[in-house]
Amino acid sequence: MDSEASRVRDSEDVLSDTFFEARAADLAQRLGRGRFEHTLGVAKTAQNLARLYQVDERQARLAGLLHDWDKSYDDTGIRKRAEELALAVDPFVFEEMPQLLHGPTAAAALASAFPAIPHEVIQSIERHTAGAVGMTDLDMVVYVADALEPGREYLGLGAIRDLIGIVSLEELYLTTFRQVLLNLVERRKRIHPQTTDIWNYYIARSREATGKEPKRGTL
Ligand SMILES: [Fe+2]
Ligand SMILES: [Fe+2]
Repeated sequence: MDSEASRVRDSEDVLSDTFFEARAADLAQRLGRGRFEHTLGVAKTAQNLARLYQVDERQARLAGLLHDWDKSYDDTGIRKRAEELALAVDPFVFEEMPQLLHGPTAAAALASAFPAIPHEVIQSIERHTAGAVGMTDLDMVVYVADALEPGREYLGLGAIRDLIGIVSLEELYLTTFRQVLLNLVERRKRIHPQTTDIWNYYIARSREATGKEPKRGTL
């Protein structure tokens, strides 16, 4: 444990402005300029979303700042880090999509270096790359903030930003998840193996929430 970690005693300390600024200074060293700006954008967007949807603002701000803590590793480096942290990871992801490990490795490394960071914050960092079934409100805030922060620009983004504060947080998450998936398919990218389970879970809940069942297609 380094001296910084030993000085951070409890969750009040890690949610302070002082801790936020110290970790931002760390990130300025760990990440390139563009990625660092992205993390500041995610922190601010997560805080704003948290305020809007009654989620803990300071937890959201911290998770947003730290979510890409391990983003600067190359494929070999991130695999090595996952092994060093003894993470149980999907073999397909490990071999074929190692960059998606940066959420789980960041979560494990930060929990070890700063044990006072609340578990909820660590979990939202772990889940920001792939999403999950049973996301908490904080998990959804961080996932959405990562996709919608002001520095982002991609097809369909404007329409989702227009839904902020209009639809529920879960609907905003589902809509964001859908757009991320669409863009991956459109670009002929591989998708995380958990994507089907997550999509099926949330689309069923969305239908239950709206009471609408889509018309069945005919073959
Ligand atoms: Fe990320
Ligand atoms: Fe990110």
